[in-house]
Amino acid sequence: MRPRALHGVLPGALCLALWCLCGALGLWRSGNHEWKKLIMVHHWPTTVCKEIENDCSNPPDYWTIHGLWPDKSEECNRSWHFNLEEIKDLLPDMKIYWPDVTHPPNHSHFWKHEWEKHGTCAAQLDALNSQKKYFGKSLDLYKDLALNSMLQKLGIKPSINYYQISDIKDALASVYGVIPKVQCLPPREGEEVQTLGQIELCLTKGLQLRNCTEPGEPRSRRRDAWPARATGQGPGLEVCEDGPTFYPPPDEARH
Ligand SMILES: *[C@@H]1O[C@H](CO)[C@@H](O)[C@H](O)[C@H]1NC(C)=O
Ligand SMILES: *[C@@H]1O[C@H](CO)[C@@H](O)[C@H](O)[C@H]1NC(C)=O
Ligand SMILES: *[C@@H]1O[C@H](CO)[C@@H](O)[C@H](O)[C@H]1NC(C)=O
Repeated sequence: MRPRALHGVLPGALCLALWCLCGALGLWRSGNHEWKKLIMVHHWPTTVCKEIENDCSNPPDYWTIHGLWPDKSEECNRSWHFNLEEIKDLLPDMKIYWPDVTHPPNHSHFWKHEWEKHGTCAAQLDALNSQKKYFGKSLDLYKDLALNSMLQKLGIKPSINYYQISDIKDALASVYGVIPKVQCLPPREGEEVQTLGQIELCLTKGLQLRNCTEPGEPRSRRRDAWPARATGQGPGLEVCEDGPTFYPPPDEARH
């Protein structure tokens, strides 16, 4: 009896060991500040407010920028400090498209965080090698990708009726031609379903759209908090589970 049971256990243990090894390798790599894709992270302000349990007053009713993140490294140059002066010209756009929805009206703490954690790594690319270029290019990408109008055209609007995650992912894949990554807040106590929170579109180092998944990787992954945390995910959001999801209307934040 025993050996037969072990047959099942061994491959499992091997997988776990491999998973740990890959994890360790990932950490080692990030120490090396090597990365291969950029992630344009959009978040839904109503869900951000919910995530941090903050009564945001009037969160924007459009998807805003969370950040432009290299996939595998953080804080690549701690002596390259954020300087608001350098992005002075961008401030009008920054306030609209890259607001700190949780601490208005002072957004600079959020921008400083994004620069120091992610921008200093993204700056390995010539196209992003200054604060002005990093924030300016991020704004350009956000406008070019036009997630808000794409979603509208696809008929995906905040609603009290639930969406299927696969429908949202398929619709986005059809307009962008690449596989996005969609993140949700898992259902909290008393809630039926997860809440849509973040939409990520991935780019090559040449700033061209690419799949967020790696070649050969299955399209739909299950909950995957570890790599999400490693890329600087705020607490709470996880890769959405297949199934229904709530895309909360902005008014819901005030209920
Ligand atoms: C880190 O940033 C500082 C300030 O911009 C710069 O002088 C230095 O060369 C950078 N170091 C590396 C390793 O890129
Ligand atoms: C906004 O926050 C930044 C960073 O935390 C701080 O340096 C700055 O003084 C603040 N500005 C205002 C107007 O409060
Ligand atoms: C992106 O993913 C799709 C669907 O899995 C696949 O057909 C396509 O070949 C992928 N593209 C690249 C460049 O890997």
